[in-house]
Amino acid sequence: MKSFLSKMENKIKNVIIELGYEIENVELIPSSRKEFGDFQYNGVMAIAKKIGKNPRDIATEISDKLNELEEFTNVNIAGPGFINITFTNESLKDYVNELNSDINISYEYDNPKTIFLDYGGANVAKALHVGHLRSANIGEALKRLANALGNKTISDVHLGDWGRPLGLVILEIKKRHPELCYFDDSFDGEYPEKSPVTNEDLMEIYPTASTKAKEDEAYLEEAREVTKALQEGHKGYNELWKKIMEVSSTDIGKTYDRLNATFDLWEGESDCYKVIPEMMEYINKLNITRESEGAIVIDVAREDDKVEYPPMMLVKSNGGASYQTTDLAGIFDRVRRFNPDEIWYITDSRQALHFETVFRAARKAGIVKENIVLENDGFGTMNGADGKPFKTRDGGVMQLNDLIDMVVSECEKKLLPNIVEDRQEIAEMVGVAAVKYADLIPYRSTDYSFDPVKFSDLNGKTAPYLLYSTIRMKSLLKKAKETGIDYKNVEVIDENTKEIVLNLLSINKVVVKSFNSRSLNEITELLYKLTNSYNNFYSSVRVLTEENEVNKKSWLALTKIVYDNNIKLLDILGIKVPDRM
Ligand code: ARG
Repeated sequence: MKSFLSKMENKIKNVIIELGYEIENVELIPSSRKEFGDFQYNGVMAIAKKIGKNPRDIATEISDKLNELEEFTNVNIAGPGFINITFTNESLKDYVNELNSDINISYEYDNPKTIFLDYGGANVAKALHVGHLRSANIGEALKRLANALGNKTISDVHLGDWGRPLGLVILEIKKRHPELCYFDDSFDGEYPEKSPVTNEDLMEIYPTASTKAKEDEAYLEEAREVTKALQEGHKGYNELWKKIMEVSSTDIGKTYDRLNATFDLWEGESDCYKVIPEMMEYINKLNITRESEGAIVIDVAREDDKVEYPPMMLVKSNGGASYQTTDLAGIFDRVRRFNPDEIWYITDSRQALHFETVFRAARKAGIVKENIVLENDGFGTMNGADGKPFKTRDGGVMQLNDLIDMVVSECEKKLLPNIVEDRQEIAEMVGVAAVKYADLIPYRSTDYSFDPVKFSDLNGKTAPYLLYSTIRMKSLLKKAKETGIDYKNVEVIDENTKEIVLNLLSINKVVVKSFNSRSLNEITELLYKLTNSYNNFYSSVRVLTEENEVNKKSWLALTKIVYDNNIKLLDILGIKVPDRM
């Protein structure tokens, strides 16, 4: 099935072919000057150039033919041969009523795949920070978008749960409580059920240990040893590690719940670590590694590289695994377990070199077949209002929950005064929506500034504006129902409502474009435009007291369509809509 816009593009294409011109495809773009037409077709110049004919002559032939078709009206030519196209209200009406019964986002996409998404990436025993926010928001929305288009997805939170930070935390606990059974090598009883540390403890322990390691070489060396022993299976350390994992991932889970991010797999670097021996057995049969200063590496540089690619570190000189090794093992494991067509990593753009190195090694080792797509979809940073990387007032790293709280409390101030009982709950929903929407507005790789006041504004390109408007649509529909107004189809499309319909018309294409660019900015923009066009209409009429019954019912039917689409698009962004605010 194809969307209305595609069908119209096809009609135009057929007209052009019938006139005897060669053409691959026709793309209609929304007109920049609405007074000349709804959409524009700019392909005539290319056709004319190819055959050495005057573009205006060809444009005239095409527009004459189009004017004869029932779907088009007032087709006219501008400049050297731009064709302006307006759809008849009659044809738009049919289209919009089709939407009434079926909002199918996937009309323009017919290439379903199995996509493995690696996002979230929180680090165990450490607080989530701003960088993790973007991964959760963008990753979650991309997953929902992929699903809405009919792809199959598998999502993994890929926790940073292995390596030095865990060694540091265990060492610091050991220093404070050497008497604990985890540190008694002769202990052979049952390890206690209860964790010796809470999440609050961990939030203090890790920074302390990390600072000590920076200042004290001996401490750092000890941490290296603990890390190595942990990875080599030291029983007590591993039991303690499990406890740390339990308390920390419960807390991490709460933050992801807050952000409405859910994962099929709750795995991490430690799971990849387990796969390393098997992967090494496989790699060792190939002739692709070499020794370098005690380490084992895979060269990944290519002759035409513009930047220098250091080799991939497979085994460090101390025998340990690197961040690169666990990610390579991750690919090894994911390919055989899930047979994905594509694997996407949604991380900060600054990890680009890391992933490109790992991807090259994976291809060189034949761990992935050529046709499997490996992608690092990098995102820009969120800065403070001063345009510099975000910091707390005392210069520390801002914790994710504190940052969300700031926006929630701004949003709370703007809720209706009569919301009392569930005020905090609603503020939370609106605040999280505000954070998420603001995070998805810029193109994925663009940096942006954190601005709680702007994000929570009830007017402008913000979630509160969208939510408020969507709730108003819902309550209008509810009132209509209570008054017993029975509406069904859109019967009138006029000056007031046409802009809304044109925005609805773009949805199918926009979602596919957004999917293809792995960026949600086009969807956030469309949601705003659609809502705005609806609000312009809403403020120019009085729906429920309208005397003309046909108008009234038609407007309600259109309201329902806009409402349903808003809900659907907000859901793709991972945004929930409260009942009131
Ligand atoms: N834990 C990492 C960090 O905080 C992000 C993990 C990204 N995913 C991956 N497979 N490396 O930077």
